[in-house]
Amino acid sequence: MSDQQSDSRSPLQTARILIAALAGVIVVISIVLVVQVVGQGGQSIEEVGDVNVLENSSNECVTCHENNTPGIVEQYGHSSMAAAGVSCEDCHEVEADYPGSVEHEGTHVLQQPTTAMCENCHEQEVAQFNQSRHALPSYVAYAGTEPLTEEQLDLYASIPEAQFNPDRDRNALFELEGHAVTQFACEGCHNVGKPALDGSIGECTACHLRHEFSLEQARKPETCNACHIGPDHPQWEIYQESAHGIAYATDGDNWNWEAEPGTLSVVDMPAATCATCHMSGFGGTSTTHDIGDRLSWYLAAPVSERRPAWQDNVVRMQAVCSECHNSDFIDTFYDDADELVLAINDWVIESDEIMQPLKDNGLLTPEPFDQEIDFVYFELWHHWGRTAKSGAWMQGPDYVQWHGAYEILSDLAELRAMAEELLIEAGLDPEEVYAE
Ligand code: HEC
Ligand code: HEC
Ligand code: HEC
Ligand code: HEC
Ligand code: HEC
Ligand code: HEC
Ligand code: HEC
Ligand code: HEC
Repeated sequence: MSDQQSDSRSPLQTARILIAALAGVIVVISIVLVVQVVGQGGQSIEEVGDVNVLENSSNECVTCHENNTPGIVEQYGHSSMAAAGVSCEDCHEVEADYPGSVEHEGTHVLQQPTTAMCENCHEQEVAQFNQSRHALPSYVAYAGTEPLTEEQLDLYASIPEAQFNPDRDRNALFELEGHAVTQFACEGCHNVGKPALDGSIGECTACHLRHEFSLEQARKPETCNACHIGPDHPQWEIYQESAHGIAYATDGDNWNWEAEPGTLSVVDMPAATCATCHMSGFGGTSTTHDIGDRLSWYLAAPVSERRPAWQDNVVRMQAVCSECHNSDFIDTFYDDADELVLAINDWVIESDEIMQPLKDNGLLTPEPFDQEIDFVYFELWHHWGRTAKSGAWMQGPDYVQWHGAYEILSDLAELRAMAEELLIEAGLDPEEVYAE
């Protein structure tokens, strides 16, 4: 006791000084944090999210629609476009003779603003989108090239990535199922690239839900899940079982989803989403609306081939990975995944070889999808082959194995048995036929 009393400071005094110092540090840290948050994009969180900037607007569209469709004004009022002064008229108002315009309250409006309207201010995003398979190739996949204008045909021909299936006939299932069904099926996803009446291409709102046009919404993987789901392209399911998807599911609430485009980095999110790998400017890689820009294979094809300029695409994709993984890890991963693609290709080629003698001997009807064997042959590559390939590239082991490779092996066995039966029925000896 006497030792402590002889000290110049009592324990109580020391504690007070320490607490004061700690409080000082906390204040400084808070100031730094606040400055950082406010500094991002020059807007405070409050400006973007909480305030409806249209609340006291005297714009006629706004004041009337506040009563008629308050939801639209409420949503748009919270968008950063409204904060930047972009008005209802900027997207909706057109001349009387504009294709698709309707007369409205003394002016003319579009019910569904087209890509041409966005293009007035977002030329670069539209140009990139137009060069991607989300644009015309998505539409041609079910509609064929017949409905395209001269100008659209030229645009289509200029898309390097469209050279895969360049003039695809209308997909057989599209014809078979008929409009009553396909308007809710194929078209629900593939209209992301449908031309509008004014000739401009696609639906920006497939990913940018109106009228919030929120970056957070566009960047979250659920947005892609609208279409990238199901047995033939289960990228959403695969992502959910990947380490990246688990990081998103368990920690995503804490990520900075509103980071200014082009500035997104590991500070904002510690793992990747669909958009991070395929679209976002991340670290040194710039933002793109051309979702083929970082891909090396045509994974959706029955037998996958390399894309034009695929080496450049790999460099761009790997630049994203290398923000979080080292180059040895990435190179090894790419070598292994390339090897898997070739292994799946071999199985699909094997299925072609089983089918060929049936075609040569006229044992398949000319109509698609009318014999059981048509379905087995189709599912082998269209469902399981694609699934195994996407599963490997996006880290979903269950999809590579039980929804992929295993199903392929099972279908190969079934295909062989069916083919032999058809040959025998036709009086041919399967052993001889396949020995040739
Ligand atoms: C005096 C009121 C009023 C004004 C002013 C007004 N609207 Fe409307 N608007 C309406 C009403 C009412 C509807 C129909 C809502 C419904 O069907 O539920 C409508 C519908 C619309 C539609 C859908 C059209 C359709 O046929 O489907 C659009 C787009 C639209 N308004 C945009 C605008 C824009 C842009 C402006 C400003 C240039 C504007 N409105 C000005 C009242 C107004
Ligand atoms: C950045 C462009 C943009 C702005 C700004 C914009 N809209 Fe729209 N709006 C759209 C798009 C795109 C659609 C069509 C969405 C679709 O059908 O896929 C739409 C649809 C509509 C519709 C018809 C759809 C429905 O659900 O009834 C109305 C009405 C409408 N907007 C009113 C407004 C009003 C009022 C404002 C201003 C407060 C506004 N819009 C601002 C892009 C915009
Ligand atoms: C009149 C010009 C104009 C038109 C037309 C326009 N935009 Fe914008 N848009 C802007 C401006 C300016 C910003 C920047 C806002 C900011 O960063 O604060 C922006 C930002 C955006 C953003 C990013 C939002 C964010 O939170 O940073 C998206 C997404 C977007 N626009 C989509 C669209 C789409 C889709 C259309 C067409 C349906 C469209 N825009 C039409 C001017 C426009
Ligand atoms: C749930 C959304 C969805 C539905 C429904 C859908 N597709 Fe697709 N389709 C996709 C996606 C996503 C891809 C890309 C798959 C990939 O790259 O792994 C694709 C790929 C394709 C391709 C291969 C790429 C190409 O352009 O050659 C064709 C052909 C195709 N779809 C046609 C159709 C037809 C025809 C229908 C209806 C019978 C249909 N799709 C229904 C989402 C869908
Ligand atoms: C496949 C989904 C998808 C489609 C379709 C899409 N976008 Fe985007 N968009 C995104 C994502 C994701 C981001 C955020 C990128 C990032 O992380 O920085 C974005 C960002 C933007 C931005 C702000 C970033 C920037 O580059 O300034 C604009 C503007 C924009 N999109 C406009 C459009 C327009 C116009 C269209 C239609 C031609 C369109 N988008 C179609 C997904 C999409
Ligand atoms: C409205 C439906 C829809 C949405 C939403 C959508 N896609 Fe797609 N996507 C498609 C279709 C359809 C295709 C196939 C196009 C084709 O090849 O015919 C496709 C193809 C792709 C491809 C392969 C492109 C190529 O060059 O082969 C990638 C990568 C892709 N999408 C990524 C995304 C990402 C990332 C998102 C979310 C930010 C997203 N998509 C949202 C419908 C959609
Ligand atoms: C960690 C990065 C990463 C994430 C996360 C990711 N992808 Fe991918 N994706 C890839 C790579 C790498 C490939 C194959 C690249 C190649 O061909 O070189 C690929 C391939 C694809 C393809 C196949 C395109 C074709 O050739 O037919 C589609 C479609 C796709 N991704 C969509 C998505 C969607 C949707 C999500 C989210 C649910 C997603 N991706 C998440 C990296 C990623
Ligand atoms: C923003 C950071 C980030 C980016 C970008 C990213 N990853 Fe990852 N990745 C992670 C994290 C975090 C994990 C989980 C690591 C763990 O299991 O502890 C992971 C895990 C993985 C795994 C699984 C490793 C294992 O041991 O199971 C693979 C494979 C992988 N990433 C490949 C890629 C590829 C390929 C790309 C680029 C196309 C990529 N990643 C982009 C952060 C990222």
